[in-house]
Amino acid sequence: MSYKIGLIYDRPHVEYKETEEAKHVDHQKEVTKDEIYKILNTKYNVEKILVDEKTIERLLKSEIDLAFLLTTGIRGESRQSQIPAVLEMLGIPYIGSGVLAHALALNKAVAKKVFDYHDVTTPSFQIFYGVEEKLDSVMKFPLIAKPACEGSGFGIHKDSVVHNEMELKKKVESLLKEYEPPVLVEEFIEGREFTVGIIGNGKNKMILPIMELNFDDVPEKYGRFNTFEVKTKCGDETKVFCPAPITSELEKTMKENVLKAFDALGCRDISRVDIRVKDDKPYVIEINSLPGLEPLYSDLPKMAEKAGIAYDQLIFKIVDTAIERIKG
Ligand SMILES: Nc1ncnc2c1ncn2[C@@H]1O[C@H](COP(=O)(O)OP(=O)(O)OP(=O)(O)O)[C@@H](O)[C@H]1O
Ligand SMILES: [Mg+2]
Repeated sequence: MSYKIGLIYDRPHVEYKETEEAKHVDHQKEVTKDEIYKILNTKYNVEKILVDEKTIERLLKSEIDLAFLLTTGIRGESRQSQIPAVLEMLGIPYIGSGVLAHALALNKAVAKKVFDYHDVTTPSFQIFYGVEEKLDSVMKFPLIAKPACEGSGFGIHKDSVVHNEMELKKKVESLLKEYEPPVLVEEFIEGREFTVGIIGNGKNKMILPIMELNFDDVPEKYGRFNTFEVKTKCGDETKVFCPAPITSELEKTMKENVLKAFDALGCRDISRVDIRVKDDKPYVIEINSLPGLEPLYSDLPKMAEKAGIAYDQLIFKIVDTAIERIKG
């Protein structure tokens, strides 16, 4: 059967229209959409479908058989699940995670509760809805405070890492003002950082070559971890090793933890998991259920390249993975 694929894309969610963060994400989204459209078009009938309040009409008119989602939704706390929910309602099969997995992955605080239940190692944490809450005695400084429901480095800056109660209170207060509550406060894992790409489902999951990110050469003022500034301004100073130089033992425990995290949230087809390692123990920082796919820029396409999978092959592999799953 020759599929008609809908390439579902959006603009940055409305709240951030004028910010530097939004401009960066906007550019990334444009490039990704145009490139994927070109590639899919060589094999399938493809229609670009913009996400806004009129999307349902467009989807009904389009008569697509499969949706390729590049959308993080429009607004609100479960935005990443909006289009999956609409597609599910209309009975249109789609590539990638379902409504629940996207909602869980976007909400790092809830995802961590699920990780705990499934024995996925993750930094100890506390959730703050207000500044008056008392810090649990198990929480040891340095800590990192971040918006619970963001991604792409939004709200992650050098001063997100706090060293005492006063700094913590100040940071929690400013995050509560700027972003949707709650604020997630975690033990800051001082150690090596990795990111791990997964493609597939069930027993057929493929882990791409693991990537290590090293921030030693990043200017101190931006923070020596993956802050928004580091992500957007320090591409050259961030050293990337792929495949990461790690022992086979660490590789094994990392892969186990990553696969457990993927299954715990019920992810499908594709995801990328961020990891920090301390005392040879890999801690899952978060799972990105809609990983960036910008050619030459995003981590997952770079990892695929190292596995001998060129960008166009990667896009077709994602489509084939989903079709195989949908056919059962
Ligand atoms: N508990 C932690 N310990 C150590 N570093 C952390 C921790 N939490 C976050 N970081 C650092 O902050 C970075 C961004 O955090 P996180 O992945 O949660 O944010 P994000 O905005 O969702 O990222 P992405 O761009 O991958 O979507 C991490 O890559 C890591 O460098
Ligand atoms: Mg991350």
